[in-house]
Amino acid sequence: MERTLLIVKPDGVKRKLIGEVIKKIEENGFGILDIRFIELSQKDAEILYEVHQGKSFYNDLLKFITSGPIVALLVEREDAISKMREVVGTTNPAIAEKGTIRGDLGGNIEQNVVHASDSKESAAREIPIFFSYG
Ligand code: CMP
Repeated sequence: MERTLLIVKPDGVKRKLIGEVIKKIEENGFGILDIRFIELSQKDAEILYEVHQGKSFYNDLLKFITSGPIVALLVEREDAISKMREVVGTTNPAIAEKGTIRGDLGGNIEQNVVHASDSKESAAREIPIFFSYG
């Protein structure tokens, strides 16, 4: 079994999509190991989005992810990281496939409902921001 991190971003929480997101991940065979409803500090947001530092959208990204409460979920299943990327859909909801979280729940490229770890390295960096075990 592999573990990964899924975050319902501030837009998903404001739009009352927490239940829809959890439904989709449970339907896709993920087990929920832990869950937290929190506001991310600036420092933790910088760790979360470390790989995007220097990009044109970086400052807006940090501002947005710290703009309100988020829900962090530690989940597991076989091939959890790649499977979760499939379930989440491509970054831009306007072109995300139907049936995926972003394809079905909408939004825009910045406010795209969820974030999921995109590799083993990202999961290893991101999970400890929220949970004290990996
Ligand atoms: P996420 O999966 O949280 O990982 C990084 C985030 O950066 C991504 O979702 C988008 O919300 C955001 N992002 C990626 N590309 C762009 C872009 N071109 N413009 C604005 N935001 C972006």
